[in-house]
Amino acid sequence: MPSHPLLECINKRRSIRKYTEEPVEYADILMLIESGIMAPSGSNIQPWKFIVVDDPQILKMIISFSPGVNGNPPCLLVLCSDQELANKKGGKLGSEYLALMDICMAAENIMLAATDNGLGTCAVKSFESSIVQRILNLPEHIHPELMISIGHSSKDVAAPRRRPLEEVVFHNVWKA
Ligand SMILES: Cc1cc2nc3c(=O)[nH]c(=O)nc-3n(C[C@H](O)[C@H](O)[C@H](O)COP(=O)(O)O)c2cc1C
Repeated sequence: MPSHPLLECINKRRSIRKYTEEPVEYADILMLIESGIMAPSGSNIQPWKFIVVDDPQILKMIISFSPGVNGNPPCLLVLCSDQELANKKGGKLGSEYLALMDICMAAENIMLAATDNGLGTCAVKSFESSIVQRILNLPEHIHPELMISIGHSSKDVAAPRRRPLEEVVFHNVWKA
């Protein structure tokens, strides 16, 4: 298959866990989120909210309740589900499943756009959601689901091993 810039970007993206002190421009984060909101969304509900955190004090507070954040990123993007909107438009399926799936799709778009713009990212699920919700002053129906640390990587990272296709792909039916 011929190489394609998008495929190169997909292969180049790595989880970055060590950042330089160089800040990231707020406008650049907004550009990444523009890519995020172009992701598919179940019933096109788009029940996502994005909190950009680059205030050093707020960052420090969040990081102290987030064991999964590594390497002092200058920015954390907190991807939240709007449970009120998800439920109103999509019922139980919307709030329990679609919202989370939508956020994951947006997250990958954001991480690829960051890679394409020379920024490093890492998806982070290991954090105290209810405490982060309070630190960010989020209303009850806005749930922090995933964070993405964003910054300039301080070193190149090799790709962790992937399970080979033979192990994960089935053609038509499952074969034991
Ligand atoms: C849903 C999800 C949650 C993750 N949570 C964390 C986390 O809390 N901390 C962390 O350092 N990495 C986290 N990661 C990153 C994975 O460890 C990483 O994607 C995996 O090891 C593969 O490495 P790669 O992203 O460089 O390809 C998470 C990734 C996903 C998709």
